[in-house]
Amino acid sequence: MKKDVRALYLEFFKNKGHKVYQSMPLVPDDASLLFTNAGMVQFKDVFTGKVPIPMPNIATSSQLCIRAGGKHNDLENVGYTSRHHTLFEMLGNFSFGGYFKKEAIAYAWEFVTEVLGFDKEVLYVTIHKSDDEAYELWCSHISPHRIKRMGDKDNFWQMGDTGPCGPCSEIFVDQGEEYFKGEEDYFGGDGDRFLEIWNLVFMQYERDKEGNLKPLPKPSIDTGMGLERVMALLEGKRSNFDSSLFMPLIAKVEEIAKKKYIYKSGASFRVIADHSRAIAFLLAQGVNFDKEGRGYVLRRILRRAVRHGYLLGIKEAFLYKVLEVVCVCMGEHYAYLKEKQEVLQSQCKAEEERFFETLENGMSLFGKELKKIKNEKTHQLFSGEVAFRLYDTYGFPLDLTQDMLREEGLGVDMDGFEACMQKQKEQAKAHWKGSGDSLKEGDFKKLLESFGKNTFIGYETSKSEGKILALLDEEFKEVRCLENRGYVMFDKTPLYPESGGAIGDRGEIFKFDNKLVAKVLDTKKYFGLNISQIEVLETLRVGDRVIIKVNDSRVEIVKHHSATHLLHKALRDVLGTHIAQAGSLVEPNRLRFDFSHPKPLNSKELEQIELMVNQKILESNPQVIEEMTLDEAKNKGAMALFGEKYGERVRVITFGDSIELCGGIHVENTANIGSFYITKESGVSSGVRRIEAVCGRAAYDYGKSALEQVCQAKEALKTQDLLMGIEKLKEQIKLLKNTQQKSQSLHSFKVENLKGVSLIIARVDLEDIKVAIDEAKNKYDKVVILLINKQGKIAAGVKNAPIKAGEWVKKVANVMGGNGGGRDDFATAGGKNLEKIEESLIEARDFVQGIL
Ligand code: ALA
Repeated sequence: MKKDVRALYLEFFKNKGHKVYQSMPLVPDDASLLFTNAGMVQFKDVFTGKVPIPMPNIATSSQLCIRAGGKHNDLENVGYTSRHHTLFEMLGNFSFGGYFKKEAIAYAWEFVTEVLGFDKEVLYVTIHKSDDEAYELWCSHISPHRIKRMGDKDNFWQMGDTGPCGPCSEIFVDQGEEYFKGEEDYFGGDGDRFLEIWNLVFMQYERDKEGNLKPLPKPSIDTGMGLERVMALLEGKRSNFDSSLFMPLIAKVEEIAKKKYIYKSGASFRVIADHSRAIAFLLAQGVNFDKEGRGYVLRRILRRAVRHGYLLGIKEAFLYKVLEVVCVCMGEHYAYLKEKQEVLQSQCKAEEERFFETLENGMSLFGKELKKIKNEKTHQLFSGEVAFRLYDTYGFPLDLTQDMLREEGLGVDMDGFEACMQKQKEQAKAHWKGSGDSLKEGDFKKLLESFGKNTFIGYETSKSEGKILALLDEEFKEVRCLENRGYVMFDKTPLYPESGGAIGDRGEIFKFDNKLVAKVLDTKKYFGLNISQIEVLETLRVGDRVIIKVNDSRVEIVKHHSATHLLHKALRDVLGTHIAQAGSLVEPNRLRFDFSHPKPLNSKELEQIELMVNQKILESNPQVIEEMTLDEAKNKGAMALFGEKYGERVRVITFGDSIELCGGIHVENTANIGSFYITKESGVSSGVRRIEAVCGRAAYDYGKSALEQVCQAKEALKTQDLLMGIEKLKEQIKLLKNTQQKSQSLHSFKVENLKGVSLIIARVDLEDIKVAIDEAKNKYDKVVILLINKQGKIAAGVKNAPIKAGEWVKKVANVMGGNGGGRDDFATAGGKNLEKIEESLIEARDFVQGIL
């Protein structure tokens, strides 16, 4: 029977008193980390003592992790090995000063042998070479020859350069000699024969800045087991991709590509299967395709998958079809995938289509360059300039080009690539933000260690005293005093850091004699610290006590923030519960809200949404702030956002029936929002719409200026009834046009007399040349007339003369590269080459003269 390892794991530890935690968002609220990449990330602050230890002090989770970009980047290996993934799940049990080595080892052993049923004869464990305690403990479970002592590289785990760390112990499964005969298949080698399934970290020390280890007051446990590999092993598969987690995805790719999957040559199938999971989850959690940062990682993953589809011979968007299978398979445990399936698919499809537009040409440019290198033989690097063109013009992320070259054993001339990038940067004079992998660290980590997180007191006040704990220069380096621009960290501050779409607070800093000493330009969270960017007017020193005052614009920001909550609720009520926030910006004079929805909103929907928000404002709903657990909040119907990390207890903001998890500052009562106008609705990308709106003071200004325009228009039209005035105006214009047409009557043409026949050949300014032809025929007894207008329209009329109008226009139109024809007395035609009008007029005359 197939085992549901995830459920078994969580159940096992729950029965042992652990609290089961949900998988935290893939995007952590921590600028130092691109994506959540281990189960312990959600407990990072607990381990480091920044937040109190929760109760119970033992926990378990199955955490979605991404290792594609940033420090842990497995992207380029995915597909070519049996174990690497962009997205995977890490099962973990944690103890925060609760149990330690003895229980951790005993639990792991019990789970592996009794619940999962691994034969003791295939299991090995490693320990740190110095860890005699672990050795003794393991000896009561496993025979000593199966315990291997290893060095720091393999068996000492640490979160970063500093912080909690400790020796670890890993459990290995021997997959047997039969299929793993390679040279690298010895214990400790790179081969797959001895496969690590579980890492038990005994967090015992804290490493300080000098590199010294000091014992933690409360030794802790952090473990991580890869769900995918355990599933594969239990199902008797030698690759994760052969397991039931991936086979349905590979089968779908087989169906689309109409090709059979063969392990040996199946890297492209594996890449697509793996990447489609990461794409589905990232999109579902609100990450969008973007030019930089996390959204760019998502784009790179998609483009890599698309290129592998192309290698399989697929020539049009297809990934979105694989996504459907992901949503079905993973949707059982992650219900939001099912809920958002349609939107995810359409977002994915649109992005794929965009890349397919340039893929073919890019591939051909790549192929040409590759051929060149191969012919030259001496020059073994791929041109940096071509790699740049592929990136800039054809949308090939650099790592995609590198990936393609890897298959050929070649690399890119990075100097050349960088030089092109630099040149473009200078030309555009724009700031290129890079791939988002490098987040500026500066001295922030040091500050975090020295002071811990500083306190935000802005919920209660917008003006307070504070002490300067640290100053940083513009390069984020710590300084003792600051004289111009830089950054400041206070012990406590009322300045709200940019978060959840709301921009950071601006403000002013005063000395106690009320002298203004610095201006606050912005406030942001760096590595969890509340830091303000400042412009110093009078030297500031570490240790100074000052008064910090938030700008009045905060009042207006807060209104737009609360209005955003009401808008979110109204969108769900009017359009449906599939609405999920995809982005938000809150400023003092406007708000912008992006959300998933497959089509543009019509005016009726917009009107309804706007009305609903205004009704909630007029209801004067008071603000209610509560703290509760995430589960309690969900039961209450609170709308939670992905991309935000929720702690043990969450903050819930309620205004009437709008209930949302939010750490932001809000109005005391919806009435304070004033009024609300939607100013624009537009599309951001396929499946994502954007609403822009104003409230508070900005709404008053908006309404006022609209009314002023109306007044000015009334004045200009000299009427109180604007609509009637406009109707009148329209009438007048129509009338004028008619008279104008008429006034260009025939006597303005030169009329010749050719053997008793009136001859008119002219270029005219008229729209309707037919009318003029008719007029001529009415006026003259014998007439041949041909007119050409600016748009190249030709018309000819003949009365009592031996000219065939049909032939005539045809001949003339031919000169202008056009065609036409008609009766003998009237015909029309159209010419294309407008610069040949003069030439056609000559031809028209020649034709008549040749006959008459
Ligand atoms: N945090 C440990 C790891 O990532 C369990 O391996």
